[in-house]
Amino acid sequence: MQSFNQKMLRFFQSLWPAEEKPIVLGEGNTNHPPVMLIGEAPGEQESLQGRPFVGKAGKNLDGFLQVLELKREDIYISNVVKIRPTKVSDKGRVSNRPPNKEELALFTPYLMEEILLVQPRMIVTLGNFALKALCGPKAIIGDMHGKETLVTVKHEKQAAEFCIFPLYHPASIIYNRSLQEVYDGDLQALKSLF
Ligand code: URA
Repeated sequence: MQSFNQKMLRFFQSLWPAEEKPIVLGEGNTNHPPVMLIGEAPGEQESLQGRPFVGKAGKNLDGFLQVLELKREDIYISNVVKIRPTKVSDKGRVSNRPPNKEELALFTPYLMEEILLVQPRMIVTLGNFALKALCGPKAIIGDMHGKETLVTVKHEKQAAEFCIFPLYHPASIIYNRSLQEVYDGDLQALKSLF
C-alpha cells in the first residue's frame, strides 16, 4: 500500500503543485477491512487537513460508524477523486463543484487499483459518482441504493468480484430531507448484513 500511495502522490503531484491541489489519499484498515467507504471527492476541510471525511463529512461518518458498531480505524475510507474540485465565483469566492469528466477519467483507474489492493469485504459507495465509478454510467443511485450488488473490479491484468452496497451521499440529504428516512433504512439494511 505504501508504494501504491507513493506512486499516486508522485503522479498526481506532477500534474498539480501540492500547494495548489493537495492530494487526499485513502486511509484506514488496508487489510481486508469489513467496509471500504467510497465518497465523491475531498471538500475544503479534507483538502486542508489532507484526510478524507473530516469536518462536516466526518460528523456524518461518525453516525454511520455508530450504527454499524465500527470504529474509524476498522474501515478503509477513500474517494473517487483525490483532489478538491473547485470553482471560483466572479467575486473570487472558492467553492466545491462536482468532479468533471477529466477528473473522473484520471482518478478512476487508481480507485480500481486501490480496491484490488485493499480487498474489502464490502464496498459502501456514497452517492452517484462512487456508484457510477464501479457500476458504469448507467447506474443510478435511486434504483440501486440499500441493496447488495456484485461488481467486477478490473485494473490492468487483475480482476476480482466485490460486493457493493450503495447509499445516498449524506450531503444530498441536506438538499432533500425526505431522503433521511431512506438513508436510515438503508443503513439498517446494511447493518443486518454484518
Ligand atoms: N468529504 C469526502 O472526503 N468525501 C466526500 O464525498 C464528501 C466529503
